Amino acid sequence: MKCIGVLCSGGDSPGFNPCIRAVVRTAIGLGMRVMGIERGYEGLIEGRMWEMDARSVGGIIGRGGTILGTARSEEFKTEPGRKRALRNLNRNGVEGLVVIGGDGSFRGALKLHEMGFPVVGVPGTIDNDTPFTDMSIGVDTALNTVLESIDRIKDTASSHRRAFLIEIMGRDCGYLALMGGIAGGAEMVLIPEVETSLEEVAAHLEDAYIRGKAHCIIAVAEGYKPGTQAIAEYLQARREELGFEVRVTVLGHVQRGGSPTAFDRLLATRLGCAAVHELHKGHSGVMVGLVGNKITVTPLEQVLAEKKKLDLSFYEMAKVLEK
Ligand code: ADP
Ligand code: F6P
Repeated sequence: MKCIGVLCSGGDSPGFNPCIRAVVRTAIGLGMRVMGIERGYEGLIEGRMWEMDARSVGGIIGRGGTILGTARSEEFKTEPGRKRALRNLNRNGVEGLVVIGGDGSFRGALKLHEMGFPVVGVPGTIDNDTPFTDMSIGVDTALNTVLESIDRIKDTASSHRRAFLIEIMGRDCGYLALMGGIAGGAEMVLIPEVETSLEEVAAHLEDAYIRGKAHCIIAVAEGYKPGTQAIAEYLQARREELGFEVRVTVLGHVQRGGSPTAFDRLLATRLGCAAVHELHKGHSGVMVGLVGNKITVTPLEQVLAEKKKLDLSFYEMAKVLEK
């Protein structure tokens, strides 16, 4: 293999840049050329790619976002769209591809593999919902952002003796909210994986007030139903009876940005290197991951067939500690 491409796809996460850097420099070290593809599969379809040298990735190891850009592409979900992408790869002499992204991006990657084009996936998403890897790139940084936010909100919550619903990202996965809630010392965690009624939330709030807590921090995963705003309205309507006044903070996209932590830089670097080595060995249709601090390689088909399960023993621990 003489030339590989690298692209980022789907939602970005802190650590995409150190991963790109690792891919570029590892490939060059193995004597291959590297094409950087702009804005994911969209750039692939439009043929937007340029050759990257070792210098082109200088100074990016600590930068959030991605120098290549990322995108979601509806056209790539269609056969003609993928054929256009394949033509552009062939025209530019690209013989293998590293795709950095989440499970949606891997569905696209698997399609390319099935069309005979060598591809390796690298898990990058703050949601930590990709199976066959303990951590995805960006999770640790996002978690630290969540913690910093919880700490700050706690300051003002305690001053006013208020309850705060802090909405934390994760799409349908409660990982960030659960881990953020535990590490941030929240009084309650609401995640889609565990059914909790509004009545239970209200009872918890009242109990915390009666026990003399200065604040009541509730970490709410964005995927929790009926949603943060509905819980806030319900609690606020019963405000006199429950004690705490309620405020809502939606952390939003602040969780997707920022300089990657040491953990994420190392993870991104290890996975980026491993992905290039897989392509160089002639492997395709696989995802590199981290399991028990070891780099693993799993067929994309297997990754996509499974839903990552949240370890609910952490939820039980949170319940014990929230007293
Ligand atoms: P993530 O990778 O973060 O889960 P998305 O689910 O938005 O992000 O997927 C990113 C992109 O991957 C989509 O915009 C699309 O271009 C591509 N993709 C997703 N599903 C498929 C599919 N079934 N076939 C081909 N491409 C897909
Ligand atoms: O998948 C990452 C993520 O940040 C989710 O946590 C969130 O639900 C979604 O992406 C937000 O997507 P967008 O950036 O398109 O608003």
